[in-house]
Amino acid sequence: MSITIPIRNDMGAARPRLVTPAGASLTSLPPLSVYVHVPWCVRKCPYCDFNSHATPDGGIPERAYLDALRSDLEQALPSIWGRQVVSVFIGGGTPSLLSAAGLDELLAMLRACLNVWPDAEITMEANPGTAEAGRFRDYAASGVTRFSLGIQSFDDAQLRQLGRIHDAAQARAAIDMAQRAAPRVNLDMMFALPGQTLQACVRDLRQAIGFGTEHLSLYHLTMEPNTVFAKFPPEDLPDDDTSAAMQDAVEAELAAAGLARYEVSAYARPGARCRHNLNYWEFGDYLGLGPGAHGKLSFHDRIVREARLRSPDSWMRAAAARDGSHLAESRQVGPDELPFEFMLNALRLKDGVAATLFNERTGLSLAAIAHQLEAAADKGLLDADPTRLRATPLGWRFLNDLQEMFL
Ligand SMILES: C[S@@+](CC[C@H](N)C(=O)[O-])C[C@H]1O[C@@H](n2cnc3c(N)ncnc32)[C@H](O)[C@@H]1O
Ligand code: SF4
Repeated sequence: MSITIPIRNDMGAARPRLVTPAGASLTSLPPLSVYVHVPWCVRKCPYCDFNSHATPDGGIPERAYLDALRSDLEQALPSIWGRQVVSVFIGGGTPSLLSAAGLDELLAMLRACLNVWPDAEITMEANPGTAEAGRFRDYAASGVTRFSLGIQSFDDAQLRQLGRIHDAAQARAAIDMAQRAAPRVNLDMMFALPGQTLQACVRDLRQAIGFGTEHLSLYHLTMEPNTVFAKFPPEDLPDDDTSAAMQDAVEAELAAAGLARYEVSAYARPGARCRHNLNYWEFGDYLGLGPGAHGKLSFHDRIVREARLRSPDSWMRAAAARDGSHLAESRQVGPDELPFEFMLNALRLKDGVAATLFNERTGLSLAAIAHQLEAAADKGLLDADPTRLRATPLGWRFLNDLQEMFL
């Protein structure tokens, strides 16, 4: 049931708005994905603010990690009992630091405890500096269907400046190994790198395209707080006009090669979109396991957000205690937060989402945000098509402003 309260429009006149009572009321639960975080890297890159930690002397504590993961998973089971898992993403950090046997145990554990769809997309992130053909084949034999490689650039000087542990030749070799081992491969690239010219940026992208890649994630290098680059910024970063020209140039190059931009940072050939990330953007559910992992889980009467302890050691100790202390946060998302959370994700998609998805995923009526929708359309930021929630090209350019209208 809904209640009607008066709100003010821009002209100060009162008009009705529908608000659902506290708490969501969902008629069906969204698709469920699983994210597993592997928190170690060979060493920390100076630009990276992910929850990643240099490998301790003596190597990663794989046995303790897998035991903790099992405890984490088993404690989460009551929240997702009976639900099918449509995708799994093993991210990091550097999951390719796991041994083949370790990764096999991890996937076997997920399959034993969860109802993982037979054709689920199972992605694993890998760093070219840790790639071995045999291990990639073993990962795929254990069930990995998609590798996501952290390539960043094909320019050796650039890779050195980024503090990467691999050179361009290793990056090329890793792509070859991954493409031979698994049916699907994503390349992570970055642009607007220190000293990078428009020509160098396009050269990088042409090399990526040259591998016949079906999916590319392309990130503008950002200076994240608490990173080495934030403290000691590289001097010759491209200015805003240059990086905008890079974005336009690579989008055109990729489109000509058959890779359409379908999300702010994602490009794919038809049929090759990342199902796991699509579920995030369509406000689906995900169980996050491992240190620092975030999750969003829907129930018929509420939507809950969770976060695990960030420190690998603290998470491993707490998970082993099996008393819920590995959770840093578990809280119900209020109905007043849901419109922004939904739009934050959905409007990142170039085609947006069906308007009906808003009610399906949040339990709120679209009428609850009618005022904001109208205001965004009036400003030319939101498409006027009432059957879709989709940013216009202008809205996509000023995405933050558009998303904030739903705060
Ligand atoms: C978890 S990493 C990928 C796997 C592996 N750790 C690696 O780097 O090879 C995810 C991706 O985020 C991107 N990334 C990380 N920090 C970034 C930053 N400050 N700006 C832009 N992209 C960033 C990089 O492209 C990186 O490949
Ligand atoms: S290897 Fe990847 S996750 Fe690790 S520090 Fe570098 S960018 Fe971050």
